[in-house]
Order: sequence, then C-alpha cells, then structure tokens
Amino acid sequence: MKEKILKALSSIKNPATGASFEDEKRWKEVLIEGEKTTIVYARDGISPQEKRVIESFIVELLKDLVPQENLTLRSVSANSSDVFKAVESPDKIEKLAPAQIKTGHAAPAAKKNVPGVKHVIAIGSGKGGVGKSTFTVNLAASLSAMGLKIGIIDADIYGPSVPMLMGKRFEKPLANSNRKIVPIESHGIKFMSFGLFVDEKDPVIWRGPMLGGVLNQFLFDAEWDGLDYLLIDLPPGTGDIQLSMVQNCHVDGAIVISTPQDVALLDATKGLEMFRKLNLPIIGMVENMSSFICSNCHHEHFLFGEGGVEKAIDALKVPFLGKIPLELELRQSADAGSPYMANPSYEGRPVARSYQSIAGKIEQYFNPQDPSKPGLFSRLFGR
Ligand SMILES: Nc1ncnc2c1ncn2[C@@H]1O[C@H](COP(=O)(O)OP(=O)(O)OP(=O)(O)O)[C@@H](O)[C@H]1O
Ligand SMILES: [Mg+2]
Repeated sequence: MKEKILKALSSIKNPATGASFEDEKRWKEVLIEGEKTTIVYARDGISPQEKRVIESFIVELLKDLVPQENLTLRSVSANSSDVFKAVESPDKIEKLAPAQIKTGHAAPAAKKNVPGVKHVIAIGSGKGGVGKSTFTVNLAASLSAMGLKIGIIDADIYGPSVPMLMGKRFEKPLANSNRKIVPIESHGIKFMSFGLFVDEKDPVIWRGPMLGGVLNQFLFDAEWDGLDYLLIDLPPGTGDIQLSMVQNCHVDGAIVISTPQDVALLDATKGLEMFRKLNLPIIGMVENMSSFICSNCHHEHFLFGEGGVEKAIDALKVPFLGKIPLELELRQSADAGSPYMANPSYEGRPVARSYQSIAGKIEQYFNPQDPSKPGLFSRLFGR
C-alpha cells in the first residue's frame, strides 16, 4: 500500500524547481494505521499558497486509494514546528460551490496541451485595475482582424469581466454531444469565463483548490477547436490560479501589463518574477494608460509620468511590446460590451495603431516571417 501511495504521488512537483518531491526526498513518512493514513512531507521553501495547491493535488491523486476523510497531511520544516492539516470533507466543498460546473481539486499530472489550440498566452499584471481585461479583449479583436482564430479564458474568479466586455453578460454555455462545453462567441471570438456561471450579484465563495478544477475544465473540456491563440486573462497578482494553470497546462508565453507609475511597475516586476520562476517565457511588457491626448487642446498629457515601463525595460530584461494611450472611447466601448478594436471606425487612431502593432509583434514572435517578403504581417501593416 505504501508503495502504491508513493507511486500515485510521483507526479507531485516543487513549483519552484520543477523537480519531483520524490527526487527532492520530500516524502518523509507514509503512516498507515488501520483505515487512517498520514503522509508527512518536507515543506521547506514552499509558500502557503503553493502548499494549498499541492495538498489539493495529493488528495485528488490518492482519492482511489485513501478516502479523503481518512487522510491526514502533515508537513515538516527544518525551520518551523510541524503543521498539522486535517483534510476537509468533500461534502463541505461541494456545498460551498454555487456554480453548475463541476468543481473539485485541480487534476495534477504532466502538463497537457490545450486540445485544438496552437498557442496559449497568459496575460498577467502585478496589480489590479491596470487594464488587463481591456487589453486581453482588444488584443483578441486585433488578432482576429488579422484573420486569426482567437479564444479567451477569463480566469479571474473574483472579478470576471470578459462577459461584460464582450457584451454577453447573461449567456449560459451549453454542452455539446461530446460533453464538451461550447464557449460563448462574440465578435468572432470564443470565450469562457467564471462570470458565466455565477450570478453577478452573488458573493463569490469558491476557494483556492476549486479554482484549478474549474480552470482545468475551461482549458481541457471546452470545444476550442481550431484556435490560433488562446489568451488567458489572469486575476491580478501572483496566486493559486497562476500556479495551478502553469502546472497543468502548457503555456507558450506570458504578457505583463503595467501602467507607468512606479508603484504599478514595482508590482509588475513581481508578476514577471513569478512567470520566470514558473519557467514561462515572457513575450514582453505592455504599458497601458501611457498618456492622454486631450480632445480639446490635442496635447499629449503624461498623467502617470512619461514612458515608465519603457525606461524600466532594460533593467527588467524583457522585450517592450508597446504603449497604449488612455482614450475615452476605449473605456466607453468596454462599458458598452463592444471591443474598441472590433470597431473599424477607430482605425488609424493612436490606440488602434498600438494594438495593431502589438498584435503584429505577437504573431511575429510565434510565426517569424522574413520582413522583406510580403506576407500577412506586411499586408496588414503596409510594411
Ligand atoms: N487605455 C485605456 N484608456 C481608457 N480606459 C482604459 C484603458 N485601459 C483600461 N481602461 C479602463 O480602466 C478600467 C480598468 O480596466 P480593466 O478592467 O481592463 O483592468 P484590469 O487590470 O483587468 O482590472 P482587474 O484587476 O479589476 O481585473 C476599465 O474601466 C477600463 O475601461
Ligand atoms: Mg480584469
């Protein structure tokens, strides 16, 4: 039995190093007393957030061997006293979940590719409110205008905003005959969001371990067939969702959004570090709300300081993808549920040009073309 348990746990990895717990000799004890099993592991260097996700993986991996109510996880650390954790009963978790989709612990295992998707891009920020969701939706619309097939996963459980930004707040996804969830489609872009499953007025009471399970269903149980890019709008910061996503799914690259203020940049640096720690290639950084062009005086005002992100780029050692000015119509389009970049009447404005240039850089990153040869990139941007 002990061997079976250890074998079942062989896929558990230390997120900081990528090495298995087995290789790092973290399994200290598997104690079987009658029906009860206690597993002791070394938790040195593992953050409380990572610990929570790892423990939910352990429970899931052992569900056929040891019922959850008979399992106790104990972690030991060279620097602190033992931490006891009785695993909560599954009934309690089910009762907390208001959504109709199946919640549960994140499925572990090796990283999987998202079926039907060529490239998965995570979009993150160290700080909330910097325009990440607005960016995701408008980048999707810009790539879509280039003739590419785009999908979005809104992984922000606490403030899902993609249904609103896409003008589909009250849609409910259906399942097809293959029992796959059919994403909602708007402006030719497919999307899935936690917001489609919860009432906007309900307080969100899902908890960390459930999120990974739901996100897994968005990634692997949705019909994404034939996408060139799947963009994932992450919640702000560096938490469970980011970790569980990168552990489960092959992500091709990350984009970090920041505004030019020092404080936003400081947070963005933390976001970059997290992606680096998770071994995720960083496609680049985008400066949002870089300046404001006044429609009366036509001067460009740098409300948050000039070019903060661009200046910090050398020290951060990441590519700079571009800056997006503040524009009233961008905010109004967001509120109206119709992406700015899906509206051809904004063509040629600074915001539209920035988005097109960033979309071109992303396509160039994944499908480099010889710029001297006419191709999609040159046809679109006349270069
Ligand atoms: N370049 C811009 N010009 C004008 N308004 C913008 C711009 N970028 C974002 N906004 C507005 O700023 C607000 C915050 O943007 P958004 O919701 O996209 O941020 P977020 O980073 O996703 O926030 P959260 O952390 O809450 O998820 C929204 O009202 C949006 O319309
Ligand atoms: Mg958002």
